[in-house]
Amino acid sequence: MNLKIDGAQYSYRTGGSGEPVLLLHGFPFTSESFWPQLDSPPAGVRVICPDHRGFGGSELKPGVITMEAMAKDALALLDALKLDRAIVGGVSMGGYVAMALLRLDPARVKGLVLADTHPLADDAAGKEKREAVAKDVEKNGMAGYAASALPNLLAPEAKPYVKARMQDLMKSVNPAATAAAARGMAARSDSRELLSRYSGPALIVVGEKDAIAPPEKAREMQKLMPRSKLVVIPNAGHLANVEAPQEFNEALGEFVASVAAQG
Ligand code: MLT
Repeated sequence: MNLKIDGAQYSYRTGGSGEPVLLLHGFPFTSESFWPQLDSPPAGVRVICPDHRGFGGSELKPGVITMEAMAKDALALLDALKLDRAIVGGVSMGGYVAMALLRLDPARVKGLVLADTHPLADDAAGKEKREAVAKDVEKNGMAGYAASALPNLLAPEAKPYVKARMQDLMKSVNPAATAAAARGMAARSDSRELLSRYSGPALIVVGEKDAIAPPEKAREMQKLMPRSKLVVIPNAGHLANVEAPQEFNEALGEFVASVAAQG
């Protein structure tokens, strides 16, 4: 489905019905990376999965794509769907966007789902790596990056079709959007203080073998939020929602039911 935000096309997918849960995708993917949640959402859950600007069906705008810009688009989507509040979740970069949304408009956040992500900003070496990725994809396109990134994103146990689908998805995205989002991640703020002020319910999910946002970081993040629950998914890597969809969806469904019960 599509809408216009400030004159530019913005695209999203939905699945299921019930409590609205915004799910924000990671880097460099699209809303398709939530296929197990879109195709088989937990009972009582309506997942709403936008494409960040420049990804999937959403139009790219010039300049760096900051986490705030992606969060503003997601807020505009909630407005368009007439949702005052929603559970807001994200995988990895999508988690950075969820935190940016919390910073921009905390009243819209009924609960937080932070999957395979963390609240730290990039250090100087991290920012340099982002710039190298941006320059690489601008010059060479996505295929080389997709092949080299995949082993870090998925645990060795990931099913071959999951590996193939995620690699194909990366190859299909716009290199200019990938570069702009890499630069946006380099510019993001530290969100530890923000999370320590958050008093709502939170679910933290992490793959046991996540090499990018590992369980130690998830445990540190959990300490910041008094009402958070941590679920570590065995044998999954950085993309637990596609590697272990049943476990992920079960954790999501239980969390959403508990938030909905609180009204
Ligand atoms: C992602 O999966 O979105 C990225 O790995 C996030 C990052 O590189 O920090």
